[in-house]
Amino acid sequence: MEIFVVPTASATGSVAAGILAAVVRSKPDAVLGLATGGSPLPVYRALAEHSVEMGAVRGFALDEYVGLPAGHPESYAEVVRREVTVRLGLDPAKVAVPDGGAPDPRQAAANYDAAIARAGGIDVQILGIGHNGHIAFNEPGSALDSRTRVEVLTERTRQANARYFASPEDVPTQCITQGLGTIMEARHLLLVVNGADKAEILAAALQGPVSSDCPASVLQRHAHVTVVADEAAAAKLAPGTGEVTVRVAGAAVGV
Ligand code: PGA
Repeated sequence: MEIFVVPTASATGSVAAGILAAVVRSKPDAVLGLATGGSPLPVYRALAEHSVEMGAVRGFALDEYVGLPAGHPESYAEVVRREVTVRLGLDPAKVAVPDGGAPDPRQAAANYDAAIARAGGIDVQILGIGHNGHIAFNEPGSALDSRTRVEVLTERTRQANARYFASPEDVPTQCITQGLGTIMEARHLLLVVNGADKAEILAAALQGPVSSDCPASVLQRHAHVTVVADEAAAAKLAPGTGEVTVRVAGAAVGV
C-alpha cells in the first residue's frame, strides 16, 4: 500500500488525477471505477485539466440508489453524467451505472457484475470512505467477499447524504452497490480521503483489524492500493506500519 499525504483536499485531487491520467495515457480504453460523493470531486476537476483523450475510456459507477425517478438530479446516474462523463468528455455509451430503477433490482445487480467481467475487469477503482467505514454502499456487516447486490442504507449514511436532498426523508432507503468482493477484483484501488472527520475511520480501515465491522479494512488484503489523503484525514495514521507513506509539500502539488 502506498499512502500520499498532501496538504489540502484540492491537492488530493491533483495527485489522484495524475495517477489516473498516466493510466489513461498508457491504456486509452482503460476501465475506470467511478465513485460519487464529495471526496472524488476534486479528482474529476483536476483530471479535466489534463490534456488526455478520454473518449475511449470505459466507466463503471460503484453504486446507485434504488427507486429514484429516472433523471433525478441526485441519482448517481445523473451525478456521474454531470461530474464525470460531461466534465471529462467520456462517451456516455461507455459509462455504466447500476440500474436502480429496474423492475428487478436484484437481477440488475447480478447483470452489473457480469458487465464488469465482460469489460475485462476494472483497471483503477476510485473510492471514498464513509464515516462508518463503508466503501461504495457496503455498510458495516457486509461480507468481505460480497458481490454487487441490493442493500439497505444505514441511518448514518442516509443522514450524511441528506445534504444533497431537499429533505432527509427524501434519501432513498435502498441501493444497488458493487460488493466488496467485486471491488477487490479491480486491479488497482485508489482511495481518496479528506477532512478531520475521516481521520479516525481511515486509521481504523488501514491499520486496524480486517473485519466486516469496518468494510474498508478489506483494502489491506489488496495487492495494489494507493491512498491519497489530506493531512487532516491522515492525522491519526500511526507511522511505520509497513506501508509506504509519501508526504507531498504544497508546491509539489500546486497549492
Ligand atoms: P464523501 O462520501 O466523499 O461524500 O464523504 C464518501 C462515502 O460515503 O463513500
